[in-house]
Amino acid sequence: MQTVICPGSFDPVTRGHIDIIRRAAKTFEKVIVAVFVNKAKVPCFTIEERIHFLQMALADIENIEIVACEGLLADYARERNATAVVKGLRALSDFEYEFQMALTNKMLNPELETLFFSSSAENMYVSSSIVKSVASFGGNIRDFVPECIHDEIRDRLCGGGVNHES
Ligand code: PNS
Repeated sequence: MQTVICPGSFDPVTRGHIDIIRRAAKTFEKVIVAVFVNKAKVPCFTIEERIHFLQMALADIENIEIVACEGLLADYARERNATAVVKGLRALSDFEYEFQMALTNKMLNPELETLFFSSSAENMYVSSSIVKSVASFGGNIRDFVPECIHDEIRDRLCGGGVNHES
């Protein structure tokens, strides 16, 4: 079975993330969505909330597993016999950071490929930080996050302190 990993912070998940994960699930037999704890960033949403949002938005897809992860992606991929990491590329601005991560992962696990799916045109500018920023000013985030979790994300972001860093 060809298993790939879609890793991320998903703080919170956006329509852009969901588009890439759904396309990966159509292309590969199994997709592991790995929600990483990044000790360098203070997330806005807990790991449980981030997993809950992903579960809601991907409930109709069978070949997806959603997990919480800590440590190196390259090690986790080896542990799960995953052959590739699938990531979305929005614009040129993503490229340097993503290329650096792809090369690092390849060095740590030479068997692991990184595959980039180009972002859909409508999600080209969507990011978790845009969602948090717009919501913190009371703006409309309906076009940025999956409809089924929009209210929960909006209420949570409008209700409390917002970290714009991820
Ligand atoms: O959504 P993000 O914040 O861009 O996702 C970044 C993520 C989680 C994919 C990246 O930070 C990661 O792979 N973290 C795991 C730790 C690791 O393997 N670091 C070395 C590779 S750069």
